[in-house]
Amino acid sequence: MKEVNIAIAGLGVVGGEVARILCNDADRLKRQAGAKLNLVAVSARQVRDRGFSMDGISFAEDAASLANRDDIDIVVELIGRSEGVALDLCRNALKSGKHVVTANKALVAHHGHELAICAEENDTQLCFEAAVAGGIPAIKLLREGLSANDIELVTGILNGTCNYILTEMTQTGRSFDDVLAEAQAKGYAEAEPSFDVDGIDAAHKLAILAAIAYGQKIRFESVQMAGIRNISDTDIGFAADLGYVIKLLGTAARYALPTVQPCLIAQDTQLAKIDGALNAVAYKGSPVQSILCTGPGAGDGPTASAVLADIIDIARGHRAFPFGKPAASLLDADIQKPVDAGRYYLRMMVKDEIGVLNTVTAILRDHDISVESMLQKGRSDNAPVHLVFTTHSTEHAYVRAACNSLSGEKFVAGDILALPIMENV
Ligand SMILES: NC(=O)c1ccc[n+]([C@@H]2O[C@H](COP(=O)([O-])OP(=O)(O)OC[C@H]3O[C@@H](n4cnc5c(N)ncnc54)[C@H](OP(=O)(O)O)[C@@H]3O)[C@@H](O)[C@H]2O)c1
Repeated sequence: MKEVNIAIAGLGVVGGEVARILCNDADRLKRQAGAKLNLVAVSARQVRDRGFSMDGISFAEDAASLANRDDIDIVVELIGRSEGVALDLCRNALKSGKHVVTANKALVAHHGHELAICAEENDTQLCFEAAVAGGIPAIKLLREGLSANDIELVTGILNGTCNYILTEMTQTGRSFDDVLAEAQAKGYAEAEPSFDVDGIDAAHKLAILAAIAYGQKIRFESVQMAGIRNISDTDIGFAADLGYVIKLLGTAARYALPTVQPCLIAQDTQLAKIDGALNAVAYKGSPVQSILCTGPGAGDGPTASAVLADIIDIARGHRAFPFGKPAASLLDADIQKPVDAGRYYLRMMVKDEIGVLNTVTAILRDHDISVESMLQKGRSDNAPVHLVFTTHSTEHAYVRAACNSLSGEKFVAGDILALPIMENV
């Protein structure tokens, strides 16, 4: 029987689980892969018990050295970060003819094109199923399962931490800060949460899906990004009153910039019901119409499932271009326009004075924005009140210009929030 020798760099949440399954479920994996998967080398910062026997497995103090060993077929990079040892290891492993499997979305979002070229030049495989949506086979579904489709829209709930926070805010009425602090205490959110709550992690994943969906060179810098820090419990409440929930959505379409931003979606849609730390990926295309997959987007088991699937693919001899097409045929994305959602939710705090409402509606009208509905809350003597509008279909640029004009008015207190209302998701 064929034997495949594997090295794992990084034995943390994901790497530790992949190593444990390779060692403890070796017989089952051998049957499923049709090859014997031998874990021959590992690397981490420290040598310590990781829940599997190190007998016959060598420990490399320098992870980068794994790229140069002749007895390794697949290097599995599970260290993290877009630069440094992870990049050096992947680049050098591919150059020395080894297959590379990684869960590192930051690395793929920033260096995916270069690494894909390197893999092709050296006739090796670069696989990163675990980099997007953890246990959901989002990449294989798009690249292989939907390869005959003209993909119209990619939509995803791609960050479990944000979805957990927004779900808790919706279900309990608590503030962002309160829920974030609890999520950090329980270990659901990082002590330094910006990668998650500012949309960067979701943008890494969306950049990967957009590149595959539209046959483009991956360009993380083109992703428009807004996180969830400025979503208040008041917004969640207003959205509920209007029949919506707020979700951090990643959207990509062929002729629009990929965008990660909080959006309103109708409460009765399938995406609105994806709660807690779950992820979801939806593809719309022709001829398939609509596909929605949901499942755990992170964690040891779900992510290990995706990493091991890539290892098994390589062991079975499956071959795929990392982004679905030869790297030389991937297009430069030269799009400038953000995804235009159509309708918008606008929330502002204003002084409760005569004439304010007239001025606000006049500014909206002057920017060609037609109001669909209006809500006002928090009426009390001399205190500012929340004013919320939903608009009819309009252009993103008009909304931005109107918000700039409104911000200059003396009666407006604090920031104005404009969120797209996503239809047909
Ligand atoms: N956690 C998830 O749910 C999840 C989901 C999807 C994708 N990912 C991705 O998977 C990758 C790993 O994430 P993780 O959560 O498993 O991270 P982690 O728990 O922080 O583990 C990182 C591992 O890398 C090792 N390491 C750090 N610097 C190293 C170096 N210079 N040389 C060798 N080893 C080094 C650490 O060693 P020590 O153990 O000795 O400190 C640790 O074992 C990241 O790219 C992440 O984005 C994670």
